[in-house]
Amino acid sequence: MKAATLVPGAPGHSRVSDRDDPVPGDGELLVEGLLVGVCGTDREVVHGGHGELPPGAQEMVGFHESLGRVLDAPEGGDLSPGDLVVGVVRRPDPVPCPPCAAGEWDFCRNGRFTERGIKGLDGYGAQRWTVPAAFAVRADDRLGDLAVLTEPASVLAKAWEQAERVGSRAVFDPRTVLVTGAGPVGLLAALLGVQRGLEVHVLDRVTSGPKPGLVRDLGATYHSSLPDDLAPDVVLECTGAGALIFDVLGRTGPNAVTVLTGLSGSHRTVSLSPGAFNDELVLDNDVVVGSVNANLRHYRAAADALAAADPSWLARMITRRVPLERWTEALTPVDDDVKVVVDLR
Ligand code: BGC
Repeated sequence: MKAATLVPGAPGHSRVSDRDDPVPGDGELLVEGLLVGVCGTDREVVHGGHGELPPGAQEMVGFHESLGRVLDAPEGGDLSPGDLVVGVVRRPDPVPCPPCAAGEWDFCRNGRFTERGIKGLDGYGAQRWTVPAAFAVRADDRLGDLAVLTEPASVLAKAWEQAERVGSRAVFDPRTVLVTGAGPVGLLAALLGVQRGLEVHVLDRVTSGPKPGLVRDLGATYHSSLPDDLAPDVVLECTGAGALIFDVLGRTGPNAVTVLTGLSGSHRTVSLSPGAFNDELVLDNDVVVGSVNANLRHYRAAADALAAADPSWLARMITRRVPLERWTEALTPVDDDVKVVVDLR
């Protein structure tokens, strides 16, 4: 079988490799890899901002946003040959810490978790992969290729859960949500907001290309600059553009919850008055919370949210498909890209 292999931090070693087909162990599925989605994390792994080889390995299979079809499954389990599946990214640390022991590896306390295609484990960018059945989630067959959006949607399902859990510290009756960024993460955040019946506003710099139309067709409002009269109850920050968060915090309504989901990878400085920032949070009961990764509950919520979405809208999110043979091209952003996928078939 062929696989997209890489060495973290050494882009010149990114290539297509021939590997032996994997053999499933006890309790594992054998899966035909269909698609992988590409995100900023994959670029960071290749270019060295993030990522770690499996112990003793010279290179690793890349990519963590998966979609495959089960070829072989353990007897008596929930998944059967022919099912469309998505593999979970993170594995609990070996200790395990209390959150990992409770299945909440997304809150791992000791940092010894591993992540497929990112940290210490081969990814899903291969024509065949295996996965413990307990770390795979069934996708609605009617979604077909669109189910490759499940992993990024799981990260947003967790972010929304965080907003709701923090919000429930008081009477929480959110009406308005601001999503910053109209990339795949922002658009999925907006989709989950619309599905919750909220008034969703999406802020992004671009004024052309597919993003404004995608936002509008979701029933949300698109902004290319921060509107003065918006006082969101929930903010989902999906750009990682560090400075934007300070602008946004000054505009939130009382008791607002802001969830940060993007990595900035930038050490740019901005001038800021710590006192004003303090007073803004205190006097408004504001909360800013970071959110990363997802556990099984979030993958299931994501699979349900995608199954309930308009498939023709989801299809417009996938703006470029790159064949496995040329997978490295998928890492270079092209104007008007929303979600880029690599076709493993
Ligand atoms: C992935 C998460 C992962 C995070 C940090 C994100 O792109 O979606 O599953 O935990 O990167 O490695």
